[in-house]
Amino acid sequence: MSDFLKYTLSIFLLLLFVTVLFFINRPEQKDTEAKHRHMEQEKRNECIECLKKSYEERVALLNSSAYLERYIEDIINNGSSQSLGYAYGDMQGGFADKEAAPKIASYVVTLSGRRPTHPEWVKEGQTFYISNCGGCHGEDGKGVHGTFPDLTKDPLIGIKRRLERAKADLTRRSSGVRQSGQGTPAPLH
Ligand code: HEC
Repeated sequence: MSDFLKYTLSIFLLLLFVTVLFFINRPEQKDTEAKHRHMEQEKRNECIECLKKSYEERVALLNSSAYLERYIEDIINNGSSQSLGYAYGDMQGGFADKEAAPKIASYVVTLSGRRPTHPEWVKEGQTFYISNCGGCHGEDGKGVHGTFPDLTKDPLIGIKRRLERAKADLTRRSSGVRQSGQGTPAPLH
């Protein structure tokens, strides 16, 4: 065999070897990438400023009228068994039709002086409210002390609890960051 042929053959074998190695290592490479992404995520969770920012976003969402409307609509359709501390106990779902629920929710948010996302539904919503909800929560929405919740409050009890939970989450997670210092990430969950 000529030197040239030997040379070409060894280059070819080398290339083949490298290609085979590349394919063998691919799953491992993907694995490392996934690990890397996970570490980046952990770092992000650890950053106090980022935790505060996501807390503020969560609070803004919980305080929005759109969220409140969804909360009320969900309760109309599915009931409320949040143990809010009323003698009557749970509220059943389905006191109003599914189609009426968003309209009633539009009206209920006005009870605490909010502007609903669909002001054009308020009037109809009020009519539904009086016949489907007023019996327990009162025509004025003020409820019955100790028995039925006051819907003129802002935030409503269920929303207030979510806000408190968000705050507690922030405190717990940021204390985890402080204890961990720079090097070792503390468990966040
Ligand atoms: C039979 C009485 C009754 C009727 C009718 C009723 N509710 Fe309720 N509602 C309750 C009770 C009791 C609770 C508290 C349940 C709990 O502890 O989770 C409640 C809870 C709620 C809450 C959560 C209050 C808060 O502070 O977070 C909303 C909102 C609500 N009702 C809206 C409505 C709407 C709108 C209607 C009409 C479609 C309606 N309810 C009909 C008894 C009633």
